Amino acid sequence: MKLTLKIWRQKNKDSKGEFKVYPIDGIEGDMSFLEMLDILNEQLINNNEEPVHFDHDCREGICGTCSLQINGQPHGPDRLTTTCHLHMRSFSDGDTIVIEPFRATAFPVIRDLVVDRSSFERIQQAGGYVSVNTSGNTIDANAIPVNKHDADESFNSAACIGCGACVAACKNASAMLFTSAKISQYSLLPQGKIEATERVLNMVRQMDEEGFGNCTNTGACEIECPKGITLVNIARMNREYTAASLKKPLSNSWS
Ligand code: SF4
Ligand code: FES
Repeated sequence: MKLTLKIWRQKNKDSKGEFKVYPIDGIEGDMSFLEMLDILNEQLINNNEEPVHFDHDCREGICGTCSLQINGQPHGPDRLTTTCHLHMRSFSDGDTIVIEPFRATAFPVIRDLVVDRSSFERIQQAGGYVSVNTSGNTIDANAIPVNKHDADESFNSAACIGCGACVAACKNASAMLFTSAKISQYSLLPQGKIEATERVLNMVRQMDEEGFGNCTNTGACEIECPKGITLVNIARMNREYTAASLKKPLSNSWS
């Protein structure tokens, strides 16, 4: 395949970026999207040009780092697929492919296609954990019964890989799908219920402080999420948030 790549190049977070055009040839349908970018970078290095910076780690759909906006869609055209699992057979000979970083105020561009998603880490740190003592006397997991439906739902929420596609897809750059998945994975389990009130208040407060927008029920996040996280999680978070706010005045949210 012969392709034209239109790629966002930006030196650092303070510089003004721009699209640059790169023709590329010899791309096979079985190559992954990232392998295609590897080939481009080899060519650029051989020509003494700066390679395109992009994030990747596992290349197995697990780590959530390979976040690219491809032809206007987070992770490209295939549903339930991360950029690293996207294959070039999804494109045709002669195509022009536009590749950009995820766009959101809370995800500033570090360089080229790499954005800073530490805002997600701070939301997690605000309450995305269970404070149990795991030193020494850990009880057997099966000692606490959990019904099958809740266990499955919790597992589905825990499938979120923190990629940020939901934010990139949303016209409001809302992080509610991500935050609600991280809250849901605990709120459905007995171990997570103990800290549920402070978890939802603190994580939502942090999400707002990071500058993410609000949800207006468009549903673009659910469509673009590579892990099938559903809007049900947002509804659950909103219910929990309302209940927690009635228990604990907002001005007094726990830290
Ligand atoms: S909810 Fe989906 S799109 Fe959003 S961060 Fe998690 S895996 Fe990525
Ligand atoms: S590189 Fe880890 S999910 Fe794509």
